Amino acid sequence: MTHAPQRSIQVVAHRGASEDAPEHTLAAYKKAIEDGADALECDVRLTADGHLVCVHDRRVNRTSNGRGAVSALELADLAALDFGSWKTRDAWRGRDEEPDWVHRPEDPADTAVLTLERLLELVADAGRRVELAIETKHPTRWAGQVEERLLTLLKRFGLDAPASAAESPVRIMSFSARSLHRVRAAAPTLPTVYLVQFLTPRLRDGRLPAGVRIAGPSIRILRNHPGYVERLKAAGHQVHVWTVNEPEDVDLCVDLGIDAIITNRPRAVLRQLGRV
Ligand code: G3P
Ligand code: CA
Repeated sequence: MTHAPQRSIQVVAHRGASEDAPEHTLAAYKKAIEDGADALECDVRLTADGHLVCVHDRRVNRTSNGRGAVSALELADLAALDFGSWKTRDAWRGRDEEPDWVHRPEDPADTAVLTLERLLELVADAGRRVELAIETKHPTRWAGQVEERLLTLLKRFGLDAPASAAESPVRIMSFSARSLHRVRAAAPTLPTVYLVQFLTPRLRDGRLPAGVRIAGPSIRILRNHPGYVERLKAAGHQVHVWTVNEPEDVDLCVDLGIDAIITNRPRAVLRQLGRV
């Protein structure tokens, strides 16, 4: 069976081109833009002194040479850490010969902690339209501060009030319906994506939190629940799927008419889709 997409599927670089470069670093996002990704995904957290930084885990232990919770560290503490060398160690693990990709930063800024502000600058300077899918992490802990800071920052870049959701180059994603509700209340035209890891009966019927028009199910849900995407589409929702790295999963997304594929391997997915 051939899996030719009938229309363009957006390819979103998950944490940047994070298979090739250390996730959530400038190196990973520059590579994703070079690779031709349509959009970049990033997770945001608040530092102790109120800066939004792109870090997935609650702690920095896995992806840097430091330790501690992002929420307990100030931006200056994070700026002293290296967010790149863990990836090289990972790439070498279990090998005698040099792996295909080894992290050798020419510029230490490429693997320093990345602020959302710096990522917005990178996107603004990309020279072509590159969309941004921003995920709020642990938004309940900060009682609205993550969304407030996020919208303030987007406003500075003129991105908080698009004429319509369809025209917006930025969308906000979350596993928290409350976080998305806060965003919609303050910025009604910004598109929001409800991330789905487990199906409740309500979700299984294709329903989403009020006002949300895009579902973000995991690829595992698509594999295990035939008919789910059809129900979402019948309800008029778009579907953005994460994290799609295997060729057979890309084929499944094409067959189901998915709107966006979120992947650690944007180049490989674009190649499979015949776009590069
Ligand atoms: O794009 C959604 C996906 O990133 C959610 O999972 O854990 O990778 O943030 P996680
Ligand atoms: Ca994420």
